[in-house]
Amino acid sequence: MPRRIIIDTDPGQDDAVAILLALASPEEIEVLGITAVAGNVPLALTEKNARIICELAGKPETKVFAGCDAPIRRKLVTAEHVHGQAGLNGPKLPDPVMPLQDQHGVDFIIDTLRAEPAGTVTLCPLGPLTNIAQAFTRAPDIVEKVQEIVLMGGAYFEVGNITPAAEFNIYVDPEAAQIVFRSGVPITVMSLDVTHKALVTPERNNAFRALGTKVGIAVAEMTDFFERFDKEKYGSDGAPLHDPCVTAYLIRPDLFTGRHINVEIETTSELTLGMTVADWWGVTDRPRNAMFMGTIDAQEYFDLLTERLARL
Ligand code: RIB
Ligand code: CA
Repeated sequence: MPRRIIIDTDPGQDDAVAILLALASPEEIEVLGITAVAGNVPLALTEKNARIICELAGKPETKVFAGCDAPIRRKLVTAEHVHGQAGLNGPKLPDPVMPLQDQHGVDFIIDTLRAEPAGTVTLCPLGPLTNIAQAFTRAPDIVEKVQEIVLMGGAYFEVGNITPAAEFNIYVDPEAAQIVFRSGVPITVMSLDVTHKALVTPERNNAFRALGTKVGIAVAEMTDFFERFDKEKYGSDGAPLHDPCVTAYLIRPDLFTGRHINVEIETTSELTLGMTVADWWGVTDRPRNAMFMGTIDAQEYFDLLTERLARL
């Protein structure tokens, strides 16, 4: 029985690979819809990029919705310096022909959770948590119906990537993150602690390119573009491939290990705004609200990605 999911996303080259992996894995994942959020680039681009990716996957029937165009109460911070002005820089991909759904992404999340049996829909946020938080705020009745939230965001041992203390997705909308982390929904967190162990080395990127398919070559060209920033910053042999950790977890949870711990979000201090304060060592009696992943079998992860992308 496939896991039925809504992907909430701010494409973003790594979001693109996460979506491609999901669309290539129908035995394990049924994508009920994709909701775009403002994050890496503004909403007008993230919703367009989501449709470009669905068409690249050969799945133009996928339902794509535009969600929130700004954080709950703060000014939008974007990341063109990493992802490029278009947010999907690297490959030359055609503008989308498939339609954007008329319904607002937040309404789609609310309506889907109300319509489906409790405990059968998983939310997979890959960007700032604005859409999820707005849905929970406007329709508190849906919170208990969510099967699980599997998200990319946060950091503990790896500390921040947009500020010294905060990871980008949480930093952009810390108030939204606080609502989600305090919601009581079971949450699995793919933080930088995991994603920084999943580096797209030249060998791994060449395996994508060697597929020789439209998808394989496009993914290799996306990586060629967005890895330059992280390799320069970390002096590493490749960039972390963050977001596909979320969809890979749904297919192969055994690739990951972590701890069920308390995670709180800093929403007041300007110095540490957006920090995920993870009680990894259990020094408090705060409620354990998150499965915070710490390790990944990186080679297995890339082998899975390459094998599944070959299907598209
Ligand atoms: O910090 C990494 C996260 O921020 C990833 O989801 C990337 O796509 C950006 O949204
Ligand atoms: Ca993202």
